Amino acid sequence: MKLTPMAPKCGVEVSGVQLADAQGDTLDAIRHAIYEHGVAVFRDQDFSPEDHINFGHRWGGIDVNQYFPLNADFPEIALVRKEADESTNIGGAWHTDHSYDQIPAMGSVLVARDLPPTGGDTEWAHMGAAYDALPEGLKSEIEGLEAFHTADHVYKADGLYAQTDMGKNLRGQDLQTGATHPVVIRHPQTGRKLLYVNGGFTVHFVGRTREESVPLLYRLLDAARKADNTCRLQWKPGTVAIWDNRTTWHNAINDYAGHRREMHRITLSGEALAA
Ligand code: SIN
Repeated sequence: MKLTPMAPKCGVEVSGVQLADAQGDTLDAIRHAIYEHGVAVFRDQDFSPEDHINFGHRWGGIDVNQYFPLNADFPEIALVRKEADESTNIGGAWHTDHSYDQIPAMGSVLVARDLPPTGGDTEWAHMGAAYDALPEGLKSEIEGLEAFHTADHVYKADGLYAQTDMGKNLRGQDLQTGATHPVVIRHPQTGRKLLYVNGGFTVHFVGRTREESVPLLYRLLDAARKADNTCRLQWKPGTVAIWDNRTTWHNAINDYAGHRREMHRITLSGEALAA
């Protein structure tokens, strides 16, 4: 197995391994690469939907997404799909999957199934690097703070997606979500400090209103985005990406108007987060 960094502070390309067969020491090495680099990319994979699901179970379990359309034959697989005549994509803003759950998904396994001729890249940002680069004063300001995360403003019947042409494709419009997490968490496996707020689902700090929270929240989101901590993936047929949702944000770039893009996603079960 060979590891090639995708960028100085985020992402690694892993070659010499077929995920469908990965187990034991190989799976452990993959886990560590993802915990450290945030996202790992695997090219030329022969990875059927059954392989995808089996891999999720070997890793430690699957959290089925409550909003995305599901694959009719394999309902543990969520479809991240935009048709050629649609304009809004799923995940087209910086976010972390499932931070609105009190026990958020550890990670996600995304498989390219139908790609546009060009575009449709995905970017990640490393929240360990983002935390490290914060000014010391800002680090002190957020020490001990907790934040509230929800998906209600995104997925509910009057939420952001409902106002777009993606609204009709989504499920779970009647669900209510809400979770409280430390603003700075320790990675459950490596112990590294990570900034754990995101623009998609973090709405306010605990004990402060949204209005009171916005200035500090936006300072953090801006600082994390500005840090030299991102990497970008150009998908090809056979590409699989696995990322750690505690360590990274991601953003699906919506620049392929007139073309279809379909990805299969599984979210891997995680654990409660602590400062
Ligand atoms: C997502 O999981 O948010 C979508 C990522 C992508 O489609 O590239």
